[in-house]
Amino acid sequence: MSSTTPLLDVSGLTKHFPIKGGFPIRRTVGHVQAVDGLDFQVGEGESLGLVGESGCGKSTTGRLITRLLEPTAGKVSYQGKDITHANRKQLAPIRSEIQMIFQDPYASLNPRQTVGKIVSGPMEINNVNPAGGREKRVRELLEIVGLNPEHYNRFPHEFSGGQRQRIGVARALALEPKLIVADEPVSALDVSIQAQVVNLLQKVQQELGIAFVFIAHDLAVVRHFSQRVAVMYLGKIVEIADRDDLYGNPRHPYTRALLSAVPEATVDETPARDRIRLQGDVPSPINPPSGCRFRTRCWKATEKCATEAPPLVQVEGNKPGHLTACHYPETAEAVPAARLSKDPEPAI
Ligand SMILES: Nc1ncnc2c1ncn2[C@@H]1O[C@H](COP(=O)(O)OP(=O)(O)OP(=O)(O)O)[C@@H](O)[C@H]1O
Ligand code: SF4
Ligand SMILES: [Mg+2]
Repeated sequence: MSSTTPLLDVSGLTKHFPIKGGFPIRRTVGHVQAVDGLDFQVGEGESLGLVGESGCGKSTTGRLITRLLEPTAGKVSYQGKDITHANRKQLAPIRSEIQMIFQDPYASLNPRQTVGKIVSGPMEINNVNPAGGREKRVRELLEIVGLNPEHYNRFPHEFSGGQRQRIGVARALALEPKLIVADEPVSALDVSIQAQVVNLLQKVQQELGIAFVFIAHDLAVVRHFSQRVAVMYLGKIVEIADRDDLYGNPRHPYTRALLSAVPEATVDETPARDRIRLQGDVPSPINPPSGCRFRTRCWKATEKCATEAPPLVQVEGNKPGHLTACHYPETAEAVPAARLSKDPEPAI
């Protein structure tokens, strides 16, 4: 990490959504444990990949960091300042420094506004007047993201999906942010276009020194983009490490399973692995399994896994900064196929 104080420091971050029920008086009958005690940091200009299956809490995490959601517990610090419960006024000075890019470039752009209006929107809202005027700045931004500045007066429907996501990137850059949370920015795009947009984001990250939290379903997408990668399962980080340590030496069974699903072509430098097919579905975050949340789908779960939640620690054999939450971490050898065919316990 480049500086001693990380740009973003998250500890014990938790979001439990109340479930309302009952008649005639509606009351809280349970909670969706969407995010449950996350600890991670992002340094200036660093890119952290956040990966996991649908419903594991990635978007909720992104919205907690950007303070679009109020955390149930835990702490979010930005540049050493506690912003966990900061109100609108307190957040105002940093609102421009933390931006979000969304998954769906169609839904996140106003169809009735021109590109010029969309990209200059954040400048207007925040009363930012760049030297040379807003229009000049918008044209510069369009150029940075690979769009024709002459298309300033066009509307979103005149662009392709990939181009619309570029407009979203230009808008996110308008206020010169220090941190961008990109929530599955390429999953709605054609596979052929995905790499172009990832390359653009990488260029932005490297050339403008912007830190990223890059959210994705699978490990292939974040591989070349993120210096560090965190793997989430049911609201928890199960493994976090520098990119090469995570891809080269995955210690958590779930990371191993996710990696084995990455097509061979993208795991060039890592040893070939047997394909691990996870059995069963992800359990409900309303009533997650006791102990280790992955145990209902883990081929090596024991009684201990059902009773003791494994802490996220540097297990033996991990390099510093490589943390794994598992009582029986994986070793370098491939997982024997026989161990994978075990029927899982029914999901709770
Ligand atoms: N506003 C809300 N109220 C209640 N439950 C919610 C709310 N937002 C999210 N959840 C639940 O919290 C859990 C985590 O959701 P989240 O959207 O963060 O997952 P995700 O990892 O982003 O999934 P995906 O990959 O499908 O986008 C899910 O079970 C979801 O249904
Ligand atoms: S703690 Fe147990 S159930 Fe959880 S991943 Fe490790 S071996 Fe599997
Ligand atoms: Mg999501």
